Amino acid sequence: MNSLTDVMRPGKAGARYAARRRELETYFDRTAAQAWARLTSDEKVSRVRATVRAGRDAMRALIMSRLGEDLQDRRLLDAGCGTGALAAEAAARGAAVTAIDLSPTLVGIARERCPAALPEGSDAEPGRVSFLSGDMLDDALGTHDHVVAMDSLIHYQLPDIVSALSALAPRTRRSIVFTVAPSTPMLTVMHAVGKLFPKGDKSPAIEPARLGRLSDAIGSAPALSDFEITHSQRIASGFYTSQCVELTRR
Ligand SMILES: C[S@@+](CC[C@H](N)C(=O)[O-])C[C@H]1O[C@@H](n2cnc3c(N)ncnc32)[C@H](O)[C@@H]1O
Repeated sequence: MNSLTDVMRPGKAGARYAARRRELETYFDRTAAQAWARLTSDEKVSRVRATVRAGRDAMRALIMSRLGEDLQDRRLLDAGCGTGALAAEAAARGAAVTAIDLSPTLVGIARERCPAALPEGSDAEPGRVSFLSGDMLDDALGTHDHVVAMDSLIHYQLPDIVSALSALAPRTRRSIVFTVAPSTPMLTVMHAVGKLFPKGDKSPAIEPARLGRLSDAIGSAPALSDFEITHSQRIASGFYTSQCVELTRR
């Protein structure tokens, strides 16, 4: 597969994206793989994590509602699929799903959990999921009707989010549904505190995004000129706050 540098101009933003991607791979594949597997299972979790689980369930339902009930004849890319819950739901609605994540460990768990998983190396087919490990921006993934990036772009800075959307846009026929961490006073404080302890905190920061700036940057990105923001909705549940944004081809 081609590398990220094939789809983004080399330079500061590309280098920063690549550096963050490496941190995320280490974090989700090793440091947090078991915790993440547990959060996304039916196992009992702490009360704080239960609020996050409830928020994430609500976000997944919101994203699925934007895609519609009948996904027959649609190809969908789950970009940063984690343990694969959304990919499985999209396949159950008939979509041919390609689900990719940086973490081979999480992809392995996703493949085991998903009744519609195809054997490794198979191409996506209707009602089934082809799970892959690698980068969501790899242009070898081909063209899809929908791209979904649930809580996978929240770790990147705003210019890198817009670059990622710009790389995905030419390969998307209908819509890109993604989430960002909205800039709230609580997140801003957590972010500032996290920066005081960069060595002690091994978890990758969530990058709060100002929604006005995101919308302006999308509006002025040449590669996104055929797309418009058709929906924006926040889910807040205890320690989980995330904003769903839908970009639809005009
Ligand atoms: C917070 S988890 C969310 C997982 C899943 N979308 C969900 O909602 O359950 C973020 C995931 O995005 C993946 N990710 C981040 N950047 C990625 C990239 N450039 N390509 C593929 N996966 C990526 C991480 O490895 C991680 O599993």
